[in-house]
Amino acid sequence: MIVAKTRAELRIKRHELIVAYHKANLSRPVVGIVPTMGALHAGHSSLIEHMVRECDLSVVTIFINPAQFAPGEDYDTYPRTLDNDLRVCEQAGVHLVFAPGKDEMYPADYQTTVRVAGLAEQWCGAARPGHFDGVTTVVSKLFGLIQPDRAYFGQKDYQQYRVIERMAIDLELSVDIVPCEIEREPDGLALSSRNRYLSPAERAAAPRIYQALTRMQELFAEGEREVARLIASAGRLLNDGPGPLIKLEYFAVVHPRSLQARETAEPGDRVLIATRLGKTRLIDNVPLEG
Ligand code: PAF
Repeated sequence: MIVAKTRAELRIKRHELIVAYHKANLSRPVVGIVPTMGALHAGHSSLIEHMVRECDLSVVTIFINPAQFAPGEDYDTYPRTLDNDLRVCEQAGVHLVFAPGKDEMYPADYQTTVRVAGLAEQWCGAARPGHFDGVTTVVSKLFGLIQPDRAYFGQKDYQQYRVIERMAIDLELSVDIVPCEIEREPDGLALSSRNRYLSPAERAAAPRIYQALTRMQELFAEGEREVARLIASAGRLLNDGPGPLIKLEYFAVVHPRSLQARETAEPGDRVLIATRLGKTRLIDNVPLEG
């Protein structure tokens, strides 16, 4: 596995890998990318394995992107576990890892921001102003550098997946955005690099987020369609029991693509939730099946 730390190194190594593949196979390789901020967990591993199965050249990027953290958020304390991350990538059969530093991605004369209006301004975008601008900017740069055919994103960050998909469509980027299933702990908590911030009491309370989401699915399957009633019933589960308070930031049923809030739920809609447990912000979502 090759590890590139600079854009120049990345371009050379990427080119060498493509030429070698072409010589051996007389065809152009399908290039895949899994963009990450490191601190790799089983959720990332499943994205990486998905990519390795489907692509001829597999690239993982590891970059904690300062542009997507607002002042006061956890940029400085975000977990940095590069040695372990590289082991995970190597074991999964990744060909190339790009792990640049901050100045390499944003040199002093850097000036451009990529913004998806509308879709990126609601839900997490409203709670974290500028967050998605940082995400779409860095993902555009990574797409420009790696030129992937397929890019893999976890649906735990459902809004992020839809925002990036919109960006790729609007900017005519020739990359398929591949959504991947959410990986969960046995008790239902969605895997996230931020779960490690939870205190034991917060960790014990956190599975109630998924319990509220699955309750919503049950009520919908039983025929309830009025969103206010769905949210009131399922939302009660969040703080039903001992332990710290789960503070609700938003809990909504939305159209799966436009992410517009619904008053009456329809099959195929998505339930989105964002909560805070102490200092930790946790998000999750589920589909409403027909
Ligand atoms: O989902 C993430 O880890 C980040 O938002 C991403 C897509 C790697 C961009 O920095």
